[in-house]
Amino acid sequence: MKLSTTQVLLAGAGLTAALPHMDSPRQRLLNGLDLPPKFGSSSKTETPGKAVPYTPEHRDPYDRAVDAIGEDLDPLPWRNGLGASVLGPWNPERSRENPDLVRPPSTDHGAIANMRWSFADSHIRIEEQEGGWTRQTTVRELGTSVELASVNMRLDSGAIRELHWHKEAEWAYVLDGEVRITALDYEGGNFIDDLKKGDLWYFPSGVPHSLQGLGENGTEFLLIFDSGSFSEESTFVLTDWLAHTPKSVIAENFNLAPEVFARLPKSEKYIFQGSQPGSIDEERPRGKEVKKSKYNFSHRMLDQEPKKTSGGEVRVTDSKNFPISKTVAAAHAIIEPGALREMHWHPIADEWSFFIRGRARVTIFAAEGMARTFNYGPGDVGIVPKNMGHFVENIGDEPVEMLEVFRSDEFRDFSLFQWMGETPQRMVVDTMFADDPENGKVFWDKVKDAHKDEIRHYDHN
Ligand SMILES: *[C@@H]1O[C@H](CO)[C@@H](O)[C@H](O)[C@H]1NC(C)=O
Ligand SMILES: *[C@@H]1O[C@H](CO)[C@@H](O)[C@H](O)[C@H]1NC(C)=O
Repeated sequence: MKLSTTQVLLAGAGLTAALPHMDSPRQRLLNGLDLPPKFGSSSKTETPGKAVPYTPEHRDPYDRAVDAIGEDLDPLPWRNGLGASVLGPWNPERSRENPDLVRPPSTDHGAIANMRWSFADSHIRIEEQEGGWTRQTTVRELGTSVELASVNMRLDSGAIRELHWHKEAEWAYVLDGEVRITALDYEGGNFIDDLKKGDLWYFPSGVPHSLQGLGENGTEFLLIFDSGSFSEESTFVLTDWLAHTPKSVIAENFNLAPEVFARLPKSEKYIFQGSQPGSIDEERPRGKEVKKSKYNFSHRMLDQEPKKTSGGEVRVTDSKNFPISKTVAAAHAIIEPGALREMHWHPIADEWSFFIRGRARVTIFAAEGMARTFNYGPGDVGIVPKNMGHFVENIGDEPVEMLEVFRSDEFRDFSLFQWMGETPQRMVVDTMFADDPENGKVFWDKVKDAHKDEIRHYDHN
């Protein structure tokens, strides 16, 4: 065993015990030490010669994924004998989250804009008034998030996101808990509904609305706005408007004495603790001219019967089954361990993905020989510009649960598998297997009865 100079010097001085944590796999490799047995084998990545990934000896001509978090490995920039160790500063936690940035597949090439943002890197806004928080991922955080922006919001039980509106339409997915939503439609009809995990709402541009956390723990949800430059800081808030309107005008507007408004809030309230509401029926406005909306601004996405695929399940919600949602379409996908959201592309809109559970790798093909691979985990946002080919591979040991969201009235994708099966055999084989007719036949037998299987189980490990 060879020791590094530092170790020899420190050992000589009797200082070994005073070293900082030196037992990480990376540090051991840098020091030329053997790895503990638990790093010695990895069923997914083992190749003849027993080398672990991220060593100069490791070879993998097929660029298989490595789950650096699940296998507790420190990714290092070694690939098929190329690369070198790291001498400078290094952030092992972030490297583990992005193993395919540290050691990209050999198929990656060229400069592609960043397509990943973690909500963990977003600033959280906490207000004076307790009861909630928000954070956002917009084009300011993630430059490629041009078509859609997002806000992740938490409202504790009773907490209210106050009455407001904005020029962008708002689509939302309830991540957990319960929430009451209220809105007014373009024809003056009111809407009130109580939503739970997996439910959606959609408010068209300008529609005024409010949100309130219900139940024991309130709610948390993901909001999507149909413009990347949306900012949660720039919505039209009722109290802000009133605070900036002469009291004499407010009095005229409501035909009341100005004194009635003497104690209105002096600035916007935004998120604040409200009183616990009763049932929808108890709370419903009952004035003479008041009417219920003819429209339904909510939808139970997770209650939809999923499409079962060989490696998971998919639910699609767009204007076909949620008619009011004219500018946002979405798919909810569950990708089982070992399965792949198949190679595909979306023709009309950029994909804005949000990862709820699991660990994934995605390679985005941008034409002109360019491709780049990104990793995603819980709370991460991904972008795939329209028409760029991609897949989502589950690289962990739990299901990947994700939303694919689009600024579009309908969800649309093209499946590579289906395309191959729906193309004349000669065309397919001449293109891919001109030098290898035997495998051309194997391939054709597989794709010829192609049907769309959005999430594929892979059993050739
Ligand atoms: C509320 O949160 C607490 C603490 O996390 C949990 O024990 C409880 O089950 C939650 N209640 C509901 C209704 O989800
Ligand atoms: C809206 O539609 C959903 C079905 O997705 C239904 O469960 C709900 O009761 C409807 N809400 C209103 C207020 O009509």
